[in-house]
This record gives sequence, C-alpha cells and structure tokens, in this order.
Amino acid sequence: MVLKSKHTGKLISFEGSEGSGKTSQIARLVERLQKMKRDVVTVREPGGTEIGEQIRNIIVHNSKGDEMCPETELLLFAAARAQLVREIIAPALMRGAIVLSDRYLDSSTVYQGIGRNLAADPVAQINRFAVGNVMPNLTIVIDVPTEVGLARIRQRASDLPDRMERENIDFYDKIREGYLVLAKGLPERFFVVDGKADAASTEKRVWEAVKPLVS
Ligand code: TYD
Repeated sequence: MVLKSKHTGKLISFEGSEGSGKTSQIARLVERLQKMKRDVVTVREPGGTEIGEQIRNIIVHNSKGDEMCPETELLLFAAARAQLVREIIAPALMRGAIVLSDRYLDSSTVYQGIGRNLAADPVAQINRFAVGNVMPNLTIVIDVPTEVGLARIRQRASDLPDRMERENIDFYDKIREGYLVLAKGLPERFFVVDGKADAASTEKRVWEAVKPLVS
C-alpha cells in the first residue's frame, strides 16, 4: 500500500510509441487544466526524481547500452518508477492533484514484455511491486503508424537518436500493436486516440477522455 487513505487525486498516464506526440499533448492538457485553476503535476518516465534521472541516464544514454540485457532494463525502469511513485506521485494524489505521467507501467509491459520478449507474468509482478496500489485512473494511448512517428523524430534536429530510438521498424510495429492489444483488453482504463491528425484535433479527443474524470 503506497496510498494510505481515500483521496481525490487522479493519475492519468500517457503512452505511445516514439514520435506519437504524447509529450506535446501533455503540455496542452496542463495548460488547459491550469486555466481551470486545477492543481496539476507532470512527471516523466524514466526520471522525474533525482534518483530516477540517474537511472534514466544509465538506460537511455549509456554508450555501451546495447550490452544491457532486457532483465536489467526492466528492473531499472521499475526502480525509477518505484521512486517516482513514492516521492512524487502518491503525495500529489493524496493532496488531490491531477498527476499526468509521460509513460508509466504500461511502457514496461509493452517495451520490455512485448518488445524485448520478456515473459508477461514476471513483468506484471515487477510492475505491481514497483507501483503498489498507485494505478492510473485513465491511460491515454496516442496511436500513430510507425513510419509517421519515426519521421517526426527525425525532424527534431536536437533529438540525436538514443539507444531506445535506434531500434528498427519491426520493433516499433510490435510496440504499437502491443499498446492496441493492451488497450482492447482493459477498455475501462484505456482510451486510444488517433495521433496522426493535427495536434489540435488530437487535443480535442484527449480532452473528451479526460473531462469526465476531472470535472
Ligand atoms: P524518452 O526519450 O522519454 O522517449 P519518449 O519521448 O518516447 O517517451 O525515452 C524513453 C524510452 O524508454 C522510450 O524509448 C521508451 C522506453 N521505456 C521502456 O522501454 N520501458 C519503460 O518502462 C519506460 C518508462 C520507457
């Protein structure tokens, strides 16, 4: 038990493959919620705490990263998440904030489980151990075809391809499909938004899903 009593906070996680546009959608949602004078906290995974940022560096920018085995990768993501939950997310929810998380446990289910072929059961158990009872109230998957996502990434001049982004098209196809299957199996938590269109239409769809939860 990480969350100790009843609280009015809401945790909304954003998921999707590379270049799905989830980070800019989160920024738009934050702006909207702040205009409504809501207490909003945003976090990103992996990272979001000092310990988490250090773990992020090991995973994402490690020049010898290709040698990292998937089991280590899973445990490092889970470690960063465990810290984030206890240090930031749970206290924010306890005071009634809306917490928007740029990736959460479903990233491990999909990237390490489906993408890197780790068995689903241990991945689920490690995920559960890391987050305790802090599950998202809503998970928005921004879905874009792999080619579209990768083309967007290549356009961001500042974004040198890091270890995770050097994966091939087949890997990202698997990730995309993984999210869609996961969402289909848990329709009460997931909401899939088509991210191909312009940012403003995507924002509208995101708001349709978020509005009932926060008003
Ligand atoms: P980041 O630069 O934050 O990418 P994005 O903007 O797409 O979120 O890098 C995070 C990378 O880590 C991304 O490729 C997804 C991957 N990842 C996992 O493989 N498992 C996880 O549990 C998490 C949180 C991220």
